[in-house]
Amino acid sequence: MSVTIEPIALKHAAALQDICSDPDNVVNTNVPVPYPVDGALKYISQSIIDAEAHQAYIFTILLDGDVVGNCGVMNLYTAPSIGYFLRKDLWGKGYATEAVKLLCVKVQRLGISMVHAKVRKTNIGSQRVLEKNLFIRVGERAEEDGRYAGETLDVWEKTFEPAT
Ligand SMILES: CC(C)(COP(=O)(O)OP(=O)(O)OC[C@H]1O[C@@H](n2cnc3c(N)ncnc32)[C@H](O)[C@@H]1OP(=O)(O)O)[C@@H](O)C(=O)NCCC(=O)NCCS
Repeated sequence: MSVTIEPIALKHAAALQDICSDPDNVVNTNVPVPYPVDGALKYISQSIIDAEAHQAYIFTILLDGDVVGNCGVMNLYTAPSIGYFLRKDLWGKGYATEAVKLLCVKVQRLGISMVHAKVRKTNIGSQRVLEKNLFIRVGERAEEDGRYAGETLDVWEKTFEPAT
């Protein structure tokens, strides 16, 4: 099975809508629950605008060409952070680790020197994904907004050498 990532595009909308409509797939993220009927179309349209503005780069995760999740780097003008999710029936097979590895290559090519990720303390799978991608846990911080506002999350970081 081959994991790839590609810039999110309107052609991914139907599959993304399906994935995001199942709350189990997007637990631990700020994807809204319940997911609006036009959620994917609006999200993708905004992601395209954000990429043009060099604000955020969102990628679709594909497994042998099928849309199975999403990952990206956001907040490029302030404090760059990454996020990701994968369809639940595919967890535990190393696919998110591979997708984040590919995302880190994109991040490095963008010339970003450091990214962070905020992770719920109960989210062992995500912590493993970060560990395996050589992120380091640097502390914790109360989440300010979103679905887990008020919860203390772990903060992980990875630094990048300039791409050669
Ligand atoms: C987090 C997430 C992306 C991980 O995806 P994945 O494809 O299962 O990750 P991988 O298989 O690459 O690696 C996960 C590792 O954690 C382990 N793991 C997963 N859940 C675990 C748990 N509850 N306890 C202990 N280990 C766990 C897996 O066995 C695997 O271990 P390994 O590296 O030793 O093989 C996926 O669970 C997901 O999409 N969750 C919902 C969204 C989310 O949490 N996003 C991240 C927000 S910070």
